[in-house]
Amino acid sequence: MSLNKVLITGSSSGLGNYMALYFSKKGHDVLLHGRDEIKLKDTKNKIIKNNVKAEYIISDLSEKQGVQELCKKAKSENIKILVNNAGIICPNLPFEKINNEIIDQMILVNLIAPIKIINSISDNLEQVININSMVGLEAKKNRTLYAAGKWGLKGFSDSLKQEEKIYKILDVYPTNIKTWPDRENSMEIEYVLEKIYQAMLDSKSELILDGRK
Ligand SMILES: NC(=O)c1ccc[n+]([C@@H]2O[C@H](COP(=O)([O-])OP(=O)(O)OC[C@H]3O[C@@H](n4cnc5c(N)ncnc54)[C@H](OP(=O)(O)O)[C@@H]3O)[C@@H](O)[C@H]2O)c1
Repeated sequence: MSLNKVLITGSSSGLGNYMALYFSKKGHDVLLHGRDEIKLKDTKNKIIKNNVKAEYIISDLSEKQGVQELCKKAKSENIKILVNNAGIICPNLPFEKINNEIIDQMILVNLIAPIKIINSISDNLEQVININSMVGLEAKKNRTLYAAGKWGLKGFSDSLKQEEKIYKILDVYPTNIKTWPDRENSMEIEYVLEKIYQAMLDSKSELILDGRK
């Protein structure tokens, strides 16, 4: 029998994709999510080889309807573990180069979507994992909008942790991860996956992964 079904947002590529494969190897059924159907299909085919169930949903988290469609699917799939991973990575631009479109996209995907998803599907949940960033703890040059989203997510989550609820929350704050092979100054992906999964099993509420040490 499979373990609790996990929804990993943004699991078509990067960290979310590695997490989807890792959870499936541990025996969890997986609901994949993203916008790139070719990558999602390919990942689904890899996952079902681990003798668990996998499905995917395509939805754009910068759109109201995309968030609603994902929540509807998650409710119908009896999701017990939610990993809020989807994110627009930092454009590394000075604030004067940031336009309204970037502001909207980054706040909608990195902050508003995870809040709405938790709000919508929490009745069923046992565990939430928010993939934040070290930038959510440390202010840095050229990170304005990325920091705004991640600090917002931290504030939201820390406050939510104070409320009575049935599900646990784990916030993860990593520095750079080797999500592509030749990435320099970054943590090995296997190390990061093991740490996140173990922190979940240990019911930790916060995990700081500082690869600079
Ligand atoms: N990699 C790192 O070093 C690192 C370090 C600290 C924190 N993080 C955090 O880890 C998370 C994943 O980062 P990553 O580096 O793996 O990023 P990535 O490789 O760019 O992957 C991002 C994922 O999010 C999805 N996504 C982006 N915009 C979306 C949208 N509008 N609607 C739906 N899905 C969307 C993408 O799906 P599609 O392409 O299919 O749309 C993709 O699956 C992010 O929250 C990031 O802030 C990463």
